[in-house]
Amino acid sequence: MNFELTEEQIAVRDAAREFAQTKLLPGVIERDENQTFPAEQIKELGELGFLGMMVDPKYGGSGMDAVSYVLAMEEISKVDASCSVVMSVNNSLVCWGLETFGTEQQKEKYLKPLATGEIIGAFCLSEPEAGSDATSQQTTAIDKGDHYLLNGTKNWITNGNSASVYLVIAQTDVEKGHRGINAFIVEKGMDGFVVGPKENKLGIRGSDTHSLMFTDVKVPKENRIGADGFGFTFAMKTLSGGRIGIASQALGIASGAYELALQYSKERKAFGKEISKHQAIAFKLADMATEIEAARLLCLKSAWLKDNGQNYDKLGAMAKVFASETAMKTTVEAVQVHGGYGFVKEYHVERLMRDAKITQIYEGTSEIQRIVISRSVLK
Ligand code: CAA
Repeated sequence: MNFELTEEQIAVRDAAREFAQTKLLPGVIERDENQTFPAEQIKELGELGFLGMMVDPKYGGSGMDAVSYVLAMEEISKVDASCSVVMSVNNSLVCWGLETFGTEQQKEKYLKPLATGEIIGAFCLSEPEAGSDATSQQTTAIDKGDHYLLNGTKNWITNGNSASVYLVIAQTDVEKGHRGINAFIVEKGMDGFVVGPKENKLGIRGSDTHSLMFTDVKVPKENRIGADGFGFTFAMKTLSGGRIGIASQALGIASGAYELALQYSKERKAFGKEISKHQAIAFKLADMATEIEAARLLCLKSAWLKDNGQNYDKLGAMAKVFASETAMKTTVEAVQVHGGYGFVKEYHVERLMRDAKITQIYEGTSEIQRIVISRSVLK
């Protein structure tokens, strides 16, 4: 077993760390407060090759492995989870889905600008009445010969307004259940496509989350992804990889909070010594460090499985449930270590605590991950 990172992986991690410290840290509190989308920062992430990290260079990507992606996601998420969710959705859900299942024409037209970060994409599965229960799609796409007529509403869509390209899952034949679902590439600006108001969220407030409304949107037939009826499998396979991205985001939120708590505990004095020298604090730090290391190993192993062409559905779900629970626990404890200072914005940990919560909810709640894991271990 080799736990060493390659020189290239270390370089990617260091570049992400440098970017996070110099380009994301300044202004992160204000962007959170004002719900400002990090447009300039996302553009720069694209220029660094971080928005199409695993995409083949012939489609404008960086051709890196999934392990490098985990390393970069952790570093970006330590500082700005609003930025890393944009990165995760674009890389794991949109670019990966198109590169793996798209036609050559779709890759030329859509994947290239997405992989370079010229534009960003969104993945649209959730609906007002279908979140965890993904087979119960109410959005319909009726076959009209050379196009589909798309009608329905999508909810909680990350990059909802900032995206230019949307991968939309819809029911094409209700009789066929999940085998009557398809995925479509929808462009912003198509007639009948309206972006709803922005959600006012607890965390990841810099990212833009919207509902989307489709009324008789004409989607050309060539914009269907894969064979007829492939949409549910497309969504499940894409989300499997997405879970590695969100697990890495959760890992970064946890390690960011831990590093702040560690530093603070070595500076802050109480009862005549640094608080890190009190066992009550030292044991908290020990637990944080242990759980973060375990989460990191799960993230890296699931990425390694992906890089080596092995099934990563179970490990990705394990990584996501464990890392997101670690993020929640660690950030709450990091606030506690900071005492009153942890409760104010300048110390960053309250934001990380708010950001952590969504990692237990999106791209499959913790309960959904446990369904995936238990089905796998019980089969
Ligand atoms: N790969 C390939 N196929 C898969 C699969 C996978 N990982 N998982 C399931 N399938 C297939 C099954 O084999 C089955 O096919 P057959 O009938 O042909 O054998 C079919 O899909 C249906 O599977 P299930 O019977 O297991 O379906 P289910 O209704 O019991 O649901 C579920 C399974 C795992 C709970 C699924 O509904 C699920 O993952 N739900 C959560 C959805 C989710 O993550 N939503 C988040 C929205 S996206 C988001 O948050 C993006 C964002 O903006 C950040």
